[in-house]
Amino acid sequence: MVRVSVFGIGYTGTVSAACLAEQGHQVVAVDIDPAKVASINTGRTPIVEERLDELVSTNHAAGRLSATTDIAEAILNTDVSIVCVGTPGEDTGAIGLSYVTALCRSIGAALAERKGHHSVIMRSTLVPGTMESVCVPELERASGLKAGANFGVGYFPEFLREGTAVADYFEPCLIVYGAMDDPTMTMLRDLNAALPGEHHAVDMKTAEMIKYTSNSWRATKITFANEIGNIAKSVGVDGQAVMKILCSDHEVAMSPYFLRPGFSFGGSCLPKDLRALRFLANSNDVAAPLLQGVLEANENQIVRAEALVKRFEGRTVGMVGISFKPGTDDLRESPLAALASRLLDGG
Ligand SMILES: NC(=O)c1ccc[n+]([C@@H]2O[C@H](COP(=O)([O-])OP(=O)(O)OC[C@H]3O[C@@H](n4cnc5c(N)ncnc54)[C@H](O)[C@@H]3O)[C@@H](O)[C@H]2O)c1
Repeated sequence: MVRVSVFGIGYTGTVSAACLAEQGHQVVAVDIDPAKVASINTGRTPIVEERLDELVSTNHAAGRLSATTDIAEAILNTDVSIVCVGTPGEDTGAIGLSYVTALCRSIGAALAERKGHHSVIMRSTLVPGTMESVCVPELERASGLKAGANFGVGYFPEFLREGTAVADYFEPCLIVYGAMDDPTMTMLRDLNAALPGEHHAVDMKTAEMIKYTSNSWRATKITFANEIGNIAKSVGVDGQAVMKILCSDHEVAMSPYFLRPGFSFGGSCLPKDLRALRFLANSNDVAAPLLQGVLEANENQIVRAEALVKRFEGRTVGMVGISFKPGTDDLRESPLAALASRLLDGG
């Protein structure tokens, strides 16, 4: 049993708090909103989510789940803080960190008064580098203590989906975490020990990046399917059937093989066929901005490689392979041939 503070009684915090209590931990949920605190303290969930009503009410009744607005009291009486406050987007699109920084300052001040080890684990979605450049400095400044030595720090992104959040908690699609120190890493391992699936222990910045990659990938897939659906409809084809059959191909279409960062695609088929589908979409007045952007992004990768080579001005360049992929002599639309050509043009 671990004594846990969960900060933020919102969509993620309430699920985390109730599920941790359900696993037998002693949980205090903390929020600046007294109405949400009162809701937990009367055994009711402040948000609508399948099974959450039951989990909040039974665990509150069993004395494992309570709530408070008092941050310092929560820190003093627990071994780990799990932070689930919002990180809403700003008008520019940048991540909004005002709730996170304000809370780090409050937690830091409370840590200064606390004896014994305490770990601060962030679950809010944070752009890569935020733990290192924002959270840790704020906690250290406010506490006057050294992160990783006098108190623990970890990052543990949340992948649950609203609507199935409790089920996702107990059957997670991904478990990824990172920590600055061994006690926090051990805490993360222990808190997740009963959950099925592989645990990915990585550095905090990688964990931050994985969260954004996961959401961007999901968003891209949805948009891709929508664009295909729109084009299919314009030619009288059932896009649902097309995508269903495509998804049955785990060898190529759904293979992780094509999901490794590297160089541009090329060859006699992919660029030509993408251009033809794009042309068809344009002819049928169907907007396909994602497909439109794919060829542009692919060309950018060649420009990027050229810029990398040009950093070594005046050198002779050797190329290992020039065809569009290993095992063929096909030079049609080979991105490496395009790169060689650009380098030759550049002298
Ligand atoms: N909602 C989701 O499905 C989901 C899934 C994965 C990750 N996330 C991420 O989790 C984070 C939280 O999202 P959410 O949807 O649960 O947000 P939310 O807005 O529902 O809840 C945030 C809560 O934090 C509270 N809060 C703000 N400042 C506080 C402070 N100083 N001390 C204590 N509580 C404070 C707010 O009052 C609010 O109740 C975000 O970074 C989000 O991107 C959300």
